[in-house]
Amino acid sequence: MHSDLARVVITERALKQRVAEMAADIVDAYAGQDGGITIVSILAGSIIFLGDLIRQLPMRMRIGLVWVSSYPGKATGARGSVIGEANLPDLQGRDVLILDDILDTGHTLRLVQDRLHGAGARTVKTAVLLRKPAKAPPDVPVEFVGFDVDDEFVVGYGLDYDGLYRNLPFIAVLHPRLYESGCPT
Ligand code: XMP
Repeated sequence: MHSDLARVVITERALKQRVAEMAADIVDAYAGQDGGITIVSILAGSIIFLGDLIRQLPMRMRIGLVWVSSYPGKATGARGSVIGEANLPDLQGRDVLILDDILDTGHTLRLVQDRLHGAGARTVKTAVLLRKPAKAPPDVPVEFVGFDVDDEFVVGYGLDYDGLYRNLPFIAVLHPRLYESGCPT
């Protein structure tokens, strides 16, 4: 294993199996909806999850990509977030499924869910690969969850630290040595 990693928490095999189960649940949830769905995937952490999941969803779909950037407020020093959109289809009257890598504080998903409701989506459901239940807030509904994980910083399968480790085929906890030089969360 990579020397920057402390331990693997979800193996490649477990990820493969669970993503297949999630795909089956999603197919069931949208059964009979001939109009198909619109997937909105939050960059960049969801890229691997998106690729693996949608190839197991035999339904009509459009795919939109968004990202959420944090910024420090210029006048007040307060921090805020802004949503960027790449190739986001018209959502009016659509059944939208948001994909994200991890539900941590819920700040990102709350922002995206509000934005998509505001864009006139008929329904908005959310699928996350990972959830930190210790922190996930009750006002951010998530219909499909891959795994609950402890409140530790995890990387791999799309999740990064300082832009690295997205390509790992498993989920791992970073070595404490990296935390000591500045906590990533
Ligand atoms: P929240 O729910 O706090 O999460 O808005 C926002 C984004 O933060 C990233 N995040 C993580 N990334 N390991 C990571 O690699 C983690 O443990 C982790 N926790 C949060 C992630 O991009 C998420 O969408």
